[in-house]
Amino acid sequence: MLIRPNDRAHNHSEPSAITPRAIYEQRRELLRWLAAGAGGAAMAGWAGRSALAQPGQSPGRLAALAGVQSTVAGAVTMEKPTEYKDATGYNNFYEFGTDKTDPARNAHILKTRPWTVEVEGLVNKPRRFDIDELLKLSPQEERIYRLRCVEGWSMVIPWVGYSLAELIRRVQPQGSAKYVEFVTLADKATMPGVNGRILDWPYTEGLRLDEAMHPLTLLAFGMYGELLPNQNGAPVRVVVPWKYGFKSAKSIARIRFTEKEPGTAWNKAAANEYGFYSNVNPGVDHPRWSQATERRIGEGGLFAKKRKTELFNGYEAQVGQLYAGMDLRKNY
Ligand code: MTE
Repeated sequence: MLIRPNDRAHNHSEPSAITPRAIYEQRRELLRWLAAGAGGAAMAGWAGRSALAQPGQSPGRLAALAGVQSTVAGAVTMEKPTEYKDATGYNNFYEFGTDKTDPARNAHILKTRPWTVEVEGLVNKPRRFDIDELLKLSPQEERIYRLRCVEGWSMVIPWVGYSLAELIRRVQPQGSAKYVEFVTLADKATMPGVNGRILDWPYTEGLRLDEAMHPLTLLAFGMYGELLPNQNGAPVRVVVPWKYGFKSAKSIARIRFTEKEPGTAWNKAAANEYGFYSNVNPGVDHPRWSQATERRIGEGGLFAKKRKTELFNGYEAQVGQLYAGMDLRKNY
């Protein structure tokens, strides 16, 4: 991640030489935060630790995964990252249970190696990627994104990955491909939730092709400078920062290019509550609750002052154009 000397060897240049000054200064800010607080333990040692991330821990448990600071516009928010213990202890991953603490408790039995991702459908070069080959397809970047859940909470997470567009370009979508579907693992043996009927398994998600190609759409393999903990979607997930968190499918097994809008797990479960687009929008409430404000996880519990939710989760400058002329009330 940011803090290890061999990142520089990896870049072949000093960070200040490759990173715009504002971003570099912000990186120093993050370093200071890491040194002072939650991240302190991360500096102590990275290698040879247990492969399981448990809630309440600091980074330093999983194999390191370094990323160079991203220069994609909007990819690095100035906000303070959520503490690792909160980002890994308060999760939605229904395959491992519906309680927020279930994934951290149960996901350790998920086997993330060997793992393959099948890329198929309307592409000229369909392929099955081994996860470690996929991981090396393009240089890993660090991006610090806000993620806003439809339930009214948000986090700020330093992800490690690269633009999904890098993969999409390599498989060459055909002219008829208009959507990308993400199909995630549904393994009854290791995922207790899959034996129940709360969702139509496997969990699937979808994006319009231009959304999937947007440089902010991240194929993530790590967070906090390490491989993803299982509860956060190991070994690979997408992160779409301007959409509600459920659009960010975890533990992806297949990526399929289609002409028709694919069904999505939450839309199938409750179409009037969860639309295909699911762009963060304080002006369009969920039928059962307001989307005008949010609670930042780690900020003083239930009684902390709420923050105002921003249109497209604050990424309007980067992604607003994708929806020009669309009625966002209808296309919620
Ligand atoms: N992916 C799968 N496979 N299964 C899930 O239940 N939950 C979604 C999304 N991806 C989910 C999933 C929801 S509702 C949210 S809010 C985010 O993952 C949570 O990601 P996080 O736990 O890393 O914060």
